[in-house]
Amino acid sequence: MADLNLLVPEDEIEKQKEYMARIATFGGGKYKINTYGCQMNEHDSEVLAGMLEQMGYNATSDDEEADVILYNTCCVRDNAERRAAGNIGILAGLKKRKPGVIIGVCGCMMQEQGAAENLLKLRPYVNLIFGTHNLHKFPELFYTALQGKKVKVIEQNDQGCIPEGLPIARKNPITGYLTIMYGCNNFCSYCIVPYVRGRERSRSIASIVKEAEEMAKTGISEIMLLGQNVNSFGLGSEESFPKLLHELDGVVPRLRFMTSHPKDLSDALIEEMAVSKTVCPQFHLPVQSGSDRILSEMNRRYDREHYLNRVAMLRQAIPNVGLTTDIIAGFPGETEQDFEDTLSLVKEVRYDGAFTFIYSPRVGTGAAAMENQVPEEVKHERLSRLIALQDEITKEQLSGQVGSVQEVLIEGLSKRQNDAVYGRTGRGMTVNCKGKEEWIGHILPVSITDAGSNTLRGEIITKE
Ligand code: SAH
Ligand code: SF4
Ligand code: F3S
Repeated sequence: MADLNLLVPEDEIEKQKEYMARIATFGGGKYKINTYGCQMNEHDSEVLAGMLEQMGYNATSDDEEADVILYNTCCVRDNAERRAAGNIGILAGLKKRKPGVIIGVCGCMMQEQGAAENLLKLRPYVNLIFGTHNLHKFPELFYTALQGKKVKVIEQNDQGCIPEGLPIARKNPITGYLTIMYGCNNFCSYCIVPYVRGRERSRSIASIVKEAEEMAKTGISEIMLLGQNVNSFGLGSEESFPKLLHELDGVVPRLRFMTSHPKDLSDALIEEMAVSKTVCPQFHLPVQSGSDRILSEMNRRYDREHYLNRVAMLRQAIPNVGLTTDIIAGFPGETEQDFEDTLSLVKEVRYDGAFTFIYSPRVGTGAAAMENQVPEEVKHERLSRLIALQDEITKEQLSGQVGSVQEVLIEGLSKRQNDAVYGRTGRGMTVNCKGKEEWIGHILPVSITDAGSNTLRGEIITKE
């Protein structure tokens, strides 16, 4: 059971529903949401969209046409912040031409100390600012902004809360996100997320299963379960991540999840994955570095040996499992030898793919205060060596699939050809093939014929 004290009280949610109903009588309009950052943020934007649609607003991709423009920001790395800040700046002209447009900024960046005040100083035309802990209050805040008042609500509440029962407008009818937990307790020394998303808190299995069943009814074939550290789901209760996967088995044809922390990856989870009919043979297991010394400085609380042992267990229990990872190049104090340890780990594990990042100091985190920062050019040079190595391995992993038959969930029509479709294998590799629109949403056997640098080509094996 989730901690009931962390649930947003029902009467608070009711109040927000009343605001939505009141705004819906105003005649509606058009909205645009610009989202930065991870899947968590993408999903938060789907909640914002859900609320806006209940208030009579329709989506548009055109700033000029929009009556409300929201920026859902990310602050995990400097470039994510700069992109959002730059784009908000571009709106100055639009606001002059169309003073009635409501410009709102929310998400992780607003949750950083002083960020909201700085933004207002720099961009006084922003109407509405709120943080990650206030997402469920959007209808009330939007109402106030519609009355012509400036709104800035940032709660520095570490605990955070769990909102249930908000409307969601999911973008994709075939694959959908489902948040199972919020926040993070790990405080990896480079990372800002625990400061801007609050402490770890899990939803109850019952409410997650209910939401998954509703998603299944709408025709969603694949659910991606979301959390910063899904392996510690249910912490402090009787519930656990393997139990959740067990309860979700068979609710939709496919389940995936992210992200797993290697320190909490239990044998019970690997066993559950091995027997589950639904969980795909794909595992995203961020390693961050291959050097024990750097892992310890990062406060990751596992070493290389533990990580490689988890990888070996996964490969033993789940045949044909595909592994992906996150890696940071140029963490403070990283020597050439430390970095070579990362390269050697990448060679040893042979990931299907990796998200690779240059270390970006985040104000207030432990690593930002470390003295031995790596020079920019060294960080860049290391990142390009890492990318070159991983690209080569990705290509080889893709080539290894040629000649096999894979179950592919057809996700959509190809953007380039109208008689072609794309989808993904259980392992998470993208496949392009000739196909018809009516096959979208079906899982079909595909004979893999070719491999490119990022995707596969194949032929659907039809019964006709
Ligand atoms: N909770 C997830 C990841 C959240 S952030 C996890 O623990 O795996 C996604 C990725 O961004 C991280 O895995 C890390 O590789 C990267 N990242 C986080 N902070 C960073 C920073 N300050 N500089 C560079 N990369 C960072
Ligand atoms: Fe950041 Fe570490 Fe938490 Fe992931 S586990 S969100 S990297 S602090
Ligand atoms: Fe995600 Fe960025 Fe926030 S990575 S949790 S949107 S800081």
